[in-house]
Amino acid sequence: MKIKIAPSILASDFSKLGETVGLLERSGADYIHCDVMDGNFVPPITFGAQTVKAIRPHTSLPLDCHLMVLHPETHIEDFALSGADIITVHAEACNIPALFKQIASYGIKKSAVINPETPVEALFPAVEEGADMLLLMSVHPGWGGQKFIGETLKKIELLREFCIKSGRAELDIEVDGGITEENVRDVIAAGANVIVAGSTVFRAKDMAETIGRLRG
Ligand code: DX5
Ligand code: ZN
Repeated sequence: MKIKIAPSILASDFSKLGETVGLLERSGADYIHCDVMDGNFVPPITFGAQTVKAIRPHTSLPLDCHLMVLHPETHIEDFALSGADIITVHAEACNIPALFKQIASYGIKKSAVINPETPVEALFPAVEEGADMLLLMSVHPGWGGQKFIGETLKKIELLREFCIKSGRAELDIEVDGGITEENVRDVIAAGANVIVAGSTVFRAKDMAETIGRLRG
């Protein structure tokens, strides 16, 4: 499967987001991962649809919007109209089938995510509901720069197995949190193919080289 790298702008300098997304595109990123936090589903507040709209003209890469918010259904339209290409909603925060219908009605890719403590089975219905992507959190959502939770590897394997059994062998499985050049191989070997990386990309001396190495 094609490995896609989705740098998270959470780890970047928010005073130059426009320049940053342009630089990520020139450095070989596949997606721009936008971590939206509402101060309720997770304690911090980051940014919302207005920021997504502001960076939209600065890159042609898909904007991969990870909504760490309560009541995501009240925000889908704003993100859709702001230029989001993929919207990921938390199974802990909403009714996935209803949200998938809503997201798809804007012609946007729909994706579901679970927190580290949520059993992987919680994502199985999303496969049956026609998910375009599935996301596994490998840290507790809310902050960048945390340590990768090793138990995620087993969840990736189980999820890939379920996708294969369901006739969706090629379904994108994204993993988010604590990914480094050291552990990315295990993440890919377990069956993931979309790699979110915040700190690893933004601490890099040479972003393009680091993105290339993350791809393996
Ligand atoms: C955590 C976010 C992640 C995070 C990843 O709530 O969803 O996308 O920014 O950052 P790193 O790669 O630094 O763990
Ligand atoms: Zn994220």
